[in-house]
Amino acid sequence: MKHLLKLGDLSREEIISILDLADTLKDENKKGITHHRLKGKTLGMIFTKSSTRTRVSFEVGMYELGGNALFLSGRDIQLGRGEPICDTARVLSRYLDGIMIRTFDQSDVEDLAKFGSIPIVNGLTDYAHPCQVLADLQTIREHKGKLEGLKFCFVGDGNNMANSLIVGCLKVGMEVAIACPENYKPDPEIMKWAEATGRFTCTPDIPAAAKDADVLYTDVWASMGQEDEAAIRRAAFAGYQINDDVMAVAKPDAMVLHCLPAHREEEITAKVFEEHAGEIFDEAENRLHAQKAVLCMVMEG
Ligand code: CP
Ligand code: NVA
Repeated sequence: MKHLLKLGDLSREEIISILDLADTLKDENKKGITHHRLKGKTLGMIFTKSSTRTRVSFEVGMYELGGNALFLSGRDIQLGRGEPICDTARVLSRYLDGIMIRTFDQSDVEDLAKFGSIPIVNGLTDYAHPCQVLADLQTIREHKGKLEGLKFCFVGDGNNMANSLIVGCLKVGMEVAIACPENYKPDPEIMKWAEATGRFTCTPDIPAAAKDADVLYTDVWASMGQEDEAAIRRAAFAGYQINDDVMAVAKPDAMVLHCLPAHREEEITAKVFEEHAGEIFDEAENRLHAQKAVLCMVMEG
């Protein structure tokens, strides 16, 4: 594994080995054991969108692995003034040992990998959020003791999170049900691939999707870059919420996850959020451990 551009590029075995390493790193972190596996290496972190979790967890992760992280705001580097990706990739490859990028177009992430000569990690695009889903799978396995055979239900926008969750959950043997409005379905190519597994459904019917779910997941109705559509989206997504009615049809021990940030009383009620805050903040913590595993996989000699 040289890059992490999207989960579709990884095999089931590669995903499981990242999760296994993430568990080991988490255990060592709790015991205060450190291994400087990336000593002397520098990760560049390009952000053209906001971030709390991704920025902090990658920076702390590199520090804990004995390396260094460099925050490169899209507003400050020449990329933001139109320097092409192909040149940025070739220049940064001469200084850095890896790049994590959060941006709009998936093609920009793919181009960084194409033109650069160092590992590239996707820290969120409009299409995918693979690092989040690795942390999500780690959290699910931690709480449920397994992944295979569980029913996963996502309620809301067929966005970057839905796309990556579909791929990640299906690859590790889960059943996936998406509840979304007709005009906000996940990526058509991903849907086609998912349907071929025979373990995937996509419906506007929330109770049907949530029935007997082991894991319920939701995300904001308007993602970064869609702020102008917020009012239209509020109307389109009304009712696409994880609330007591949805919890009532899921399994009694269903867990609830949210990638955060959360908009209470939109995609999730404050009540359900707080009842499942332990799981949701374990999930946020696991960004650190899962990404340290990814960094080791792509950047270690
Ligand atoms: N979930 C997530 O990626 O959070 P940030 O936008 O804060 O990085
Ligand atoms: N779908 C959200 C996820 C944030 C982590 C967004 O892209 O803004």
